[in-house]
Amino acid sequence: MERLKNKVAVVTGAANGIGRAIAERFASEGAWVLAVDIERGMGGKVVSDIESSGGRAAFVAGDVSKLDDVRRAVEMAAFQTGRIDVLCNNAAYLAPDFHGALDSTEHEWRRCIDVALMGTHYFTQAVLPYMIAQKAGSIVNVVSIQAMEGMMTSAAYTATKAALLGYTRSVCYDYGPNNVRINSLCPGPIRTRIAEASDESHYHWQCDQTALGRAGYPEEVACAALFLASDEASYVTGATLPVDGGWTATSARKWT
Ligand SMILES: NC(=O)c1ccc[n+]([C@@H]2O[C@H](COP(=O)([O-])OP(=O)(O)OC[C@H]3O[C@@H](n4cnc5c(N)ncnc54)[C@H](O)[C@@H]3O)[C@@H](O)[C@H]2O)c1
Repeated sequence: MERLKNKVAVVTGAANGIGRAIAERFASEGAWVLAVDIERGMGGKVVSDIESSGGRAAFVAGDVSKLDDVRRAVEMAAFQTGRIDVLCNNAAYLAPDFHGALDSTEHEWRRCIDVALMGTHYFTQAVLPYMIAQKAGSIVNVVSIQAMEGMMTSAAYTATKAALLGYTRSVCYDYGPNNVRINSLCPGPIRTRIAEASDESHYHWQCDQTALGRAGYPEEVACAALFLASDEASYVTGATLPVDGGWTATSARKWT
């Protein structure tokens, strides 16, 4: 299938985990993908793996919280064909440990806001002129179920992710008339390196919160991102799509 045939897609945080899976899937569906990440080594590897599988991609080292890096990345993406069809804002600041409101630090608040929220805004602002001129475009924001539900000891991360839902709806309202679509995708527990860092009891607790009784895989999030990015979602905008094994649908946890 080539559901993104000849489209130009930008994916942030594409060197690892969910972003990597999204970049690979977009490329396998025919897009030319610009992978953006602060991790140069892994980012280059993602691109060489995509190319070895017959896909087309390039890597640019960049920090989404730095406006100059964002502008450089978007110029590089547009250089291909003068178009930018898809933007996936996936990068976020993921600290080794977050804190509740009482203990949270200025640093974690600033990094959460600067990377996930301002990074999403900088990229969105930079691609909008292309999408408006084309009268088409799809933006997929990778948020979290933590934007939908409270979670333990992560005030800065939760607040930032919740802000992204509001940002998505605001952009949806303003640029819908230009046929620019924007949606929030909310993963539940996904098996990336963040999951690997948590201990076994936390992992089992997470699995128990889902109706499916398991954590998800980055490739499963990539399938949902592909749908939202593709023309198959032509009437879907401003939506919040959980990809969470039923976590947010089942407020009553398993009764045993
Ligand atoms: N894994 C989960 O369980 C889970 C659940 C809900 C939401 N999410 C969200 O999914 C997204 C990806 O998470 P992941 O689990 O794949 O994490 P990950 O750490 O595996 O990947 C994140 C990538 O973002 C990059 N990155 C970080 N800061 C950056 C910056 N300033 N500029 C550019 N790139 C930067 C990292 O280098 C890394 O390659 C995040 O937005 C996260 O909040 C993940």
